[in-house]
This record gives sequence, structure tokens and C-alpha cells, in this order.
Amino acid sequence: MQIMSLNPADTSDVVLTLDAPSVADVVDAARRAHNAQSEWAKVPAPARGRVIAAVGRLMEANKESLAALVTREIGKTYAEALGEVQEVIDTCDFFLGEGRRLYGQTVPSEMPDKQLFTFRAPVGTAFIITAGNFPTAVPSWYIVPALLCGNSVVWKPAEVSPAISHAMTSIFHAGGVPEDVLVTIVADGATTGAALEQVLEQRLVQKVGFTGSTAVGRAIGELTGRHLQSACLELGGKNPMVVMPDANIDLVVEGALFAGFGTSGQRCTSLGTLWVHDDVYDEVKARFVRAVENAVVGDPRQDVLYGPMISQAYLEAHERNLELVQPHHSTHGSTGIGRITSANPRNGFVGDPEAGWFAHPTIVEGIRPGDALYDTETFGPLVGLGRFSSLDEAIELANGHGYGLSSAIYTNNPEWVWKFRAQVSSGMVSVNNSTSGAEAHLPFGGNGRSGNGSRQSGVWVLDQFTRWQAVNWDYSGRLQKAQMDVMELPSDPEFRL
Ligand code: UN1
Repeated sequence: MQIMSLNPADTSDVVLTLDAPSVADVVDAARRAHNAQSEWAKVPAPARGRVIAAVGRLMEANKESLAALVTREIGKTYAEALGEVQEVIDTCDFFLGEGRRLYGQTVPSEMPDKQLFTFRAPVGTAFIITAGNFPTAVPSWYIVPALLCGNSVVWKPAEVSPAISHAMTSIFHAGGVPEDVLVTIVADGATTGAALEQVLEQRLVQKVGFTGSTAVGRAIGELTGRHLQSACLELGGKNPMVVMPDANIDLVVEGALFAGFGTSGQRCTSLGTLWVHDDVYDEVKARFVRAVENAVVGDPRQDVLYGPMISQAYLEAHERNLELVQPHHSTHGSTGIGRITSANPRNGFVGDPEAGWFAHPTIVEGIRPGDALYDTETFGPLVGLGRFSSLDEAIELANGHGYGLSSAIYTNNPEWVWKFRAQVSSGMVSVNNSTSGAEAHLPFGGNGRSGNGSRQSGVWVLDQFTRWQAVNWDYSGRLQKAQMDVMELPSDPEFRL
């Protein structure tokens, strides 16, 4: 069996072909990483930080070529690909300093001549499984902190991006990460699942990180749970954008266009449904539809809003999602729906649509609870549009599907902002900003169907890749029993002024 990646904007361009590994190959990869971990953990954290610094500088020096590869292999526009690689650099910049912190605490003891401490200990070997839509940035959110904290990593990137993941890995190695401390192996889902069972059983892996669908995340959560591990899960979203009557409509249209259709809608933070207050519904709808109709789609190397779908499978999934459109809905935004072809053209398309897997942008109007499109993550250029008459109703609509990754509210009324923040169930909230495009040093993650509460990025991810070790050191020369031998000073409980 072979794994073959094609340029999704020009499928005659084969980017990389490689032999698919067996389950035993994946287990071996994990064993290599496992065997390398204890030596890596002995490298002082500041020295590991220097490695991350070197990786970051190499990412910077190779930014354009890595971004060009992202565009070629998964079809992300070059501007967005540069942004994605910048997110890798930002992540390295953040964690290189963490090598000199990785703080523990000193804690007072209840006994004399005794000291208490906490240390952050590496977890061990991390098995990281990532998706194809952010083939550099999201892996770096796992790999960089995991390595910095003294873990080794076996990385299973998406099958759609083998060339990008090999390029990334070679940069990590060139920056000084020992070969076996980061082992990359591209495998299909079934092979990965079978290998994961074995590496957990054999205790080669102490942490699993997964970015992808809710269904697979659930299976990984169950499997790791059986081994008393809690995986770091970053799953789907059905991200709402709530437009209040006082919203700046220019901003709403710009934000919804980017969040809904940027990256062809293939971000976990992409806009799911645009919920608009009755008072401004007609105006927002008219302007959003016009903006989507006028958006330029096509060759991702040109100045376009979005390029192709990541692969044929993503296009087919989008086409299946279009079957969820019901008679009470109406569709807007393009000259057709589904795949863009010469028989089903898109106005203003840049390039040859039939060379790749391109899809029309589609707004589905009339979304309400009970519709499949209300609570299905569509992961393509499909945005729902619905209306509400009060903030309470909007919050109910925003939460009702059980996803809780990212949400946005457009208003300048502080009461509405703070009520929304307090009552919306998502892990990330934007005010007058798109649901996508989180900065790389704030906690990233979701609740409910979007994840198990784990958070990536910034200092928060340290809790994924380290475990607290509590140390007590008694130098009194005798056994002082906690809770039992504690000094008590006299007090007068009857005392009153
Ligand atoms: C993802 O789609 O898995 O916030 C991550 C954003 C990006 C990351 C998306 N910085 O949209």
C-alpha cells in the first residue's frame, strides 16, 4: 500500500508518494521515541529551550519555502500559509523562554525542619495525531511544548500532508532535536488506531494528543481512559457568530467572510452559523450574500479568498453535507453549489477549476434547531444563516448543539458582551472579531463535543506535557508525622472585644 499526496489545486502534480507503514512499524516508531526519552529529559530545560530557539530561527529562515509547500500540498492560500508558519515561529518564541522558567514552587511545611517543593516532571512519550488543515501550526502546538518539557514525541501527521510533515521534522532535527526524540510516521487511520492500542498496552506512550473529528476523539478518549490516561483532545466545532442590533455591519461581513470561507471553511474554528438579530437581519443578509458572491476563489498562489478543498475526500464530505439542505432552507452566495467545474462555474474563478478540487461557497439560510445543519460540523465552504429576537435566544442557539470551541458576538454594549461571555459554553470567545484566527499564546480548546477540557498553547499546555511531582524533605532527624505532630499555639476562643 502506498500513501500519495497530490496538489489539490492541480491533481496532476504528485507531491509525494511513500510506502504505508504497518502496525508494527508504528509501534517501532513509538518504541524508538520511548527509548530516547530519558536521555532527552536529562538535558537541562534551558538547553532544551535553546534547541527550540534554534528550531524557531530555522522555521523563520525557511518560512517561505515551508509556506509554499503548505500551499502546494494542501491548497491553503499562500498568505494564510505564511500566517500558519508564523504561528509555528510564535510557538517556538514563546517556549524557548519557558525553558528558563518551567517553574515549580516552594511550599511551607506544617513541620519545622522540613521543606516542601513541586516540580514539573515530563510525562514521558507523547503520541501526537494531527489533521491536514493546519499541517504545521497545530502540530507545533503539541510538539514544541512536549519537547521543551522533556518528553519524546512520535508524530502521526495526516496522510494528506506527508511532504510538509517531513519538511517540518527535518527542521526540528536540524535545530538539534535528536532523531529519535521526534519520530514522524505517516499512517492511515486504521493502522494508527491498532498501533495506538498496542503502544498503550506496552506502556510506550504516556500521553496522546489528537486534533480531528469528534467521533475519533471520542474513541481515543475511551481508549486512553482504559489506560488511565487523559488525552489532549482538540475536536470539532459548530462555531456561532451572534450579531446584535448595534453591531458594526462592515466588521460583521468581513469577519463572517473570513471565518466562514477562509481556508475553504476547513478550520475547526470556522464559522458554523451566523445568527443575526431581527432588527438588522435583512441588511446583514444582503451584504453578506453580496460579499460572498463577489469573493474571489481559485488558485491558492493568487490573491484569492480561498483555494481548493484539502483533498478529494474533503470535497466529497462537503458534497454530502450539501444533501443536508432542507426544503425550508434557501442557498446563496454563488453561481452554483458543490464542485466548481466548467459546467458548474463560479463567477470570477481564478485558474482552471477542473485541475483541482474546488467548491462553491454556500450560505444556507433558515437554519433552526432540529435541522441537521444546526448541529453538524460541515468543515467546508458552507455557512448557516439564522435569526433571533433576544440575546437569551441567541445564547441558547449558540449552545444548543453541544459543541463549544469558539464563538463570537458583535456588539458594543458591555452588558451584552459580559452576559454572552458568561453564558456561552465555548472555550474561546471573540468580541467584534472572527471565530477563527486565535493568537498562539492564549489557551486553545473547547468543551462538550469540542473536547475534554484540555487546553493547548501558552502556559496552559504545560499541564498536558508535565505532571506535578510533590517533594518533601525532612531534615529534622526524626519522623514527624503530618497532621499528628503539628505544633499548635494556644488561643482564647471566648475572646470578644
Ligand atoms: C484548527 O483548525 O485546528 O484559530 C486550528 C485559528 C487557527 C488555528 C485553527 N489559529 O483559526
